[in-house]
Amino acid sequence: MHATGAIQDIPGKFDPAQVRDLFPTLRREVYGKPLVYLDNAASSQKPQAVIDRLIRYYSSEHSNVHRGVHLLSREATDAYEAARKRAADFLNAPSESAVLYTRGATEGINLVASSFGPLHVGQGDVVLVSHMEHHSNIVPWQMLCEAQGARVRAIPVSDTGEIIYEEFERLLGERVRLLAIGHVSNALGTINPLQNMIRQAHELDIPVVVDGAQAAPHMKIDVQALDCDFYALSSHKMFGPTGVGILYAKPERLKAMGPWQGGGDMIETVTFEQTTYNEPPHKFEAGTPNIADVLAFAEAIDFLEGIGQDRIAAYERDLLDYATEQLLQIESVRLVGTATEKASVLSFLIGDIHPYDAGTILDRLGIAVRTGHHCAQPLMRRFGIPGTVRASFALYNTFDEADALAAGVRRVREMLG
Ligand code: ALA
Repeated sequence: MHATGAIQDIPGKFDPAQVRDLFPTLRREVYGKPLVYLDNAASSQKPQAVIDRLIRYYSSEHSNVHRGVHLLSREATDAYEAARKRAADFLNAPSESAVLYTRGATEGINLVASSFGPLHVGQGDVVLVSHMEHHSNIVPWQMLCEAQGARVRAIPVSDTGEIIYEEFERLLGERVRLLAIGHVSNALGTINPLQNMIRQAHELDIPVVVDGAQAAPHMKIDVQALDCDFYALSSHKMFGPTGVGILYAKPERLKAMGPWQGGGDMIETVTFEQTTYNEPPHKFEAGTPNIADVLAFAEAIDFLEGIGQDRIAAYERDLLDYATEQLLQIESVRLVGTATEKASVLSFLIGDIHPYDAGTILDRLGIAVRTGHHCAQPLMRRFGIPGTVRASFALYNTFDEADALAAGVRRVREMLG
């Protein structure tokens, strides 16, 4: 285990100051001011251990996997497969072969839509999503539905940004053949009641795909307890590198699925007449994989587990509550998304100031937030707004930074309000 050892030793809580020390980017200044990085839902910063792992791999370990008899190739293969085991344990997956490497959550969802979708969704069927989905959990299903003569329907959300549960139950009565649902909303922070939704979907034999991109950095994920059929996530939101992610799939689902992309590694035998395919997970990983980023992602998983997801969730809950209170004290601030169960995200409007203008001023104060529709245009339309200012927290953010955000919002009001 690397430098999180000291953090692990603090019972109950952890000290974010210690955590921050592990992240070089958090030491930098922007416009001569300390960086207050509150854009973690878009992408998180990287601890030194993750950066070092990339350097070590390319400095002394690089070779292709699953191909050579030589030492470097065997070592790279062992490290790559050991990383898969780390990822499987992290998600409590029943086996390593249930874990596929992808480019990220988006690719994972597209893989399911492409390889599993046509097996299950046909003419006149419905793919059920929610109104708060990210575009990556809408568009792949639209593409599938277009090809299959099916349609996408959306579970409505309430003014607080929660699924209207009776509507979900009512819609299940339609010809739903697949439920695709986000664990945590990237735009609002709402934590969806997955356990019940998955149970009810399964009672009707409806498989469930979970977009876990916004949940995995903030809470313990147990795919067996959830009993979801698929769970997609992205490394770069979990302190790992960009360009790599995981798709968990129930082994029986993978067995039934056709391949995703064709090429090396995913085959067993090839002739010009016919090809037979490798076993999962390799069947779904054509071509040379993203070896370096997979190894560095395993380092990020070690980092998260070294601190402990329960401690992370508890700290971030306190931080989000505090930041929410601070913002609500400011006249004309309106929160968008006030669900009882929330994680990490604080989306808001300041009077009728355009989110882009607010974000530009906050940026000059050193505060990085995202503004706009957050790749959730249907949700913004539902609220009748063009977008929001979104502050999104991670385990290294502090209460002082929540104060800095509130001070920044006051400054925005003074300048534009
Ligand atoms: N999905 C990312 C976000 O919410 C990019 O910002």
